[in-house]
Amino acid sequence: MESEGFEPGESIADAPAADGVLFPGVETSAVVSTTAPAIPEPDPLTSHGPARVIAMVNQKGGVGKTTSTVSLGAALAGYGRRVLLVDFDPQGALSVALGVNPNELDLTVYNLLTQADCHVGDVIMSTDVENLDLLPSNIDLSAAEVQLVSEVGREHALGRVLAPVLDEYDIVLIDCQPSLGLLTLNALTASSGVIIPMETEYFALRGVALLQDTIQKVTSRLNPGLQIIGVLATMYDPRTLHSREVLSTVQQAFGDQVFQTVINRTVKFPDAAVAGEPITTFAPTSSGADAYRQLAREVLAR
Ligand SMILES: Nc1ncnc2c1ncn2[C@@H]1O[C@H](COP(=O)(O)OP(=O)(O)O)[C@@H](O)[C@H]1O
Ligand SMILES: [Mg+2]
Repeated sequence: MESEGFEPGESIADAPAADGVLFPGVETSAVVSTTAPAIPEPDPLTSHGPARVIAMVNQKGGVGKTTSTVSLGAALAGYGRRVLLVDFDPQGALSVALGVNPNELDLTVYNLLTQADCHVGDVIMSTDVENLDLLPSNIDLSAAEVQLVSEVGREHALGRVLAPVLDEYDIVLIDCQPSLGLLTLNALTASSGVIIPMETEYFALRGVALLQDTIQKVTSRLNPGLQIIGVLATMYDPRTLHSREVLSTVQQAFGDQVFQTVINRTVKFPDAAVAGEPITTFAPTSSGADAYRQLAREVLAR
């Protein structure tokens, strides 16, 4: 991939997004809209599949990709959707967040990507949450990236291995690693939609132009159906002016693409991760669980 950067006029984003932060010269009102219409309850499903595949992408680490994957996935499962979560980061944090020790596994996404005789059904694990399954990963996945480089159709490897089970699920969420390398390109090629979690912090917008550029290239060269479903503001602290300003800036930069749902910063999320449970079962009545249930409704409505 290209080095991180921004060429004026090339990207969808307004130029100030390149160096991120609060846009120079843009008034940030710090007023967050509270008048948005209520999000409808999703209709119950009478049958399942084929799955809508969604990549959770931001090449920045620590922005809430993994937390959002497990929390949104569990919330969607709570609405009766059959959900498959794909751990596509060699760190295996999504697997850990679901109580799985990825280093003890014989079969992971790595085997699927590199061994023709390995079937996705042999690797999928059920979780303690009804309707929620996991394709786990561990550090082996970093070797898959190297091995894939020399293959024909290298960007299509993940899509190929997921294809046989898409009819069994309603939603597949792919938790990407913090990079725009070949694994993330595979996730974008396998998906119909992208969710961009973004920390409500000073440098939140740094690198987003490059991300948008990558999504645009995947759309034109590999996967014409790919769309940005939404930008999710995470780790928001309503008590600080700073957080409100950054959110306002993100809303000005992305308009309707920003989800109405904003995820507040709360220690409940790291606590749930340590417990190996989604927030919706770890602290079902918490505001964090509420927020991801609302996000689930928003995603289903988009
Ligand atoms: N809304 C939140 N409030 C507080 N901590 C959070 C929140 N979301 C995520 N975290 C914590 O921040 C860290 C990074 O989040 P994570 O989801 O792993 O980000 P990423 O996958 O983008 O690297 C983790 O320790 C996680 O528990
Ligand atoms: Mg992660």
